This record gives sequence, C-alpha cells and structure tokens, in this order.
Amino acid sequence: MKKNLKHLIGLQDYSTKEIKEIVDLGEKISLSPKKYSNKCHGKILATLFYEPSTRTKFSFESAMLRLGGNIIGFSDANTSSVSKGESVADTIRVMSFYADIAVMRHPKEGAPKLAAEYTSIPIINAGDGGHLHPTQTLTDLLTIQKYKGSLENHVIGLCGDLKYGRTVHSLIKTMARFNTKKFVLISPEELMLPNSLKRYLKENYDLEIIEVRKIEEIIEDLDILYMTRIQRERFFNEEDYLKLKDSYILTKDKIKNAKKDMIIMHPLPRVNEIAYEVDEDKRAIYFNQAKMGLFVRMALIMKLLEVE
Ligand code: CP
Repeated sequence: MKKNLKHLIGLQDYSTKEIKEIVDLGEKISLSPKKYSNKCHGKILATLFYEPSTRTKFSFESAMLRLGGNIIGFSDANTSSVSKGESVADTIRVMSFYADIAVMRHPKEGAPKLAAEYTSIPIINAGDGGHLHPTQTLTDLLTIQKYKGSLENHVIGLCGDLKYGRTVHSLIKTMARFNTKKFVLISPEELMLPNSLKRYLKENYDLEIIEVRKIEEIIEDLDILYMTRIQRERFFNEEDYLKLKDSYILTKDKIKNAKKDMIIMHPLPRVNEIAYEVDEDKRAIYFNQAKMGLFVRMALIMKLLEVE
C-alpha cells in the first residue's frame, strides 16, 4: 500500500479541521465551479456500485467530469466479473491499475474498508449497508453551512428511520463534533436510533438528546428538520415495512408553527415522507442539498488526489 494514502471510509478518521477544509473548499467551488474545470485533467475515477444509486453515483461522475477527469465503472455488479464470484478484494486490486481513485457502494458493512486494504488508490465509501454514508454527510454539512451560515449550535430534528438510516448515523456522529446544541429524535418505537449510538453521544459530548413520536410536538424548536425514508431494503419482512412505511408524512400543516428560517433537509430519494406541497416552501431545500453534493464531491476528489 502507498504510504500516507488517505481514503474516506468514515469521517471518524478525519479531524474536524480536515472535514471543515473539505466543506469550505466545496463552498468555494459552488461559487465559481468553472475555475476548477481542469484540476483533474488526465485522472480517472472508478465508480463501483454494488447497490442502486442516483445522486451519489452521478454526482461523483459529474464531479470528476467537471474537474476535467474521466470516469469508468459499473452500476450493476452483475455486468462485471462479480457475477462470476469475484471478491471485492480481487476486484479492487485490479481496478487500481485502471483508475486513480475509486468510489464504492456495497450492501455489506465494511466492504469499502476491506477494499482499502487491497489497493494502491484512494477508496471512498459511498454507503456500506446500514452503516455509514460519509459523502452524504459532507453534502449535508455543506448545505447546513450554506443555508444556516455555520455548522455550530443548532437544534437538529431527525425524523423517520433512525435505526437503519446510514445517512442519519453518519450525520449525528459528525454534527456532534461541531457543537450541536440538541438532537431531537423523531421515530416510531421500532425504528429508534440504536442504543449504542445514543450511549456514544452521551459519553462523548455535552449535548441534549430527546426522543418524541410526533413532529408537531417539537417543530417550533428546530433549526433543522432532517427527514428520512423508511429503508425498505433493510427490513427482514415486507409486513413490518408496510406497517411502518407511512409513519411520517410532512405536510404544510405540520410545519405551520416552524421557525421562519428552519431548513427542511432530506438525503433523497423520498417516497411518501414529504408531501409534494411542501416543495414550494422556501425552507424546503432538499433539492439544493443534492446540488451541494456535486460541489463537495469535487472538493473531496481534489483533496484525496492532492490536487491544489
Ligand atoms: N442520498 C443518496 O445516497 O441518494 P442515492 O441513493 O440516489 O445515491
């Protein structure tokens, strides 16, 4: 393995200073993206997606193309030699010869970490099972910085599938490091945030955590409302999913008492959890959030390839 090689498996491996540098560079790029159009000329990004994706895959590909680089990869592992039984380790060993940096999404927790042990190029975790989704977190951080002016001292409501939602797990762990004032956890009993994560927060940070069942109970306190999809693909049986799938549907009526400058975020895709009528509210910024994903991924590629 190359000495000093840096991957992005989880943001716990990065200092708050390093995270802030990526977010700040993402913000700079968002103001004048054309200035960066030749930064990765001659470089190749491989996208290895063993699970479906729209935003993560295409924003990474668009990011590399907008930096002047090239892309290769698959969005269906069955079109590669994975269908013949090739392991993640062997696949990434070979891809290291063909690309300068690789992005991997995999249904198994830890697959990108394993890949990083077998490669000479930087590996980016684009989501591993119900575990982590660090580049969604960087996207969320850039969005919060851009729309709230700072990453610090917010009251953040997280609503929906807090058990399986990897975006929530990554975001909570990272925002705790930026002096979050309070997390409000809004979920059905069956989909509560894992106790291990609550314990970790309580043991390591001086912040308040409360749990409620209804958005309306708490909406006027929130600076940020982070909605999430119920993760159908992580349920062991369809009956349980059907019982919980419409636990939360955000409507105009439910946000009528919210602060004027509260922002509504969602990593997308949405299913039923935000009614289309909410899209026209100026506090609904989830589509701009997806746009921020492009700029922060441009920043991340530049950092990992050590491009100035
Ligand atoms: N937010 C997110 O990860 O979207 P995709 O699954 O479409 O990549």
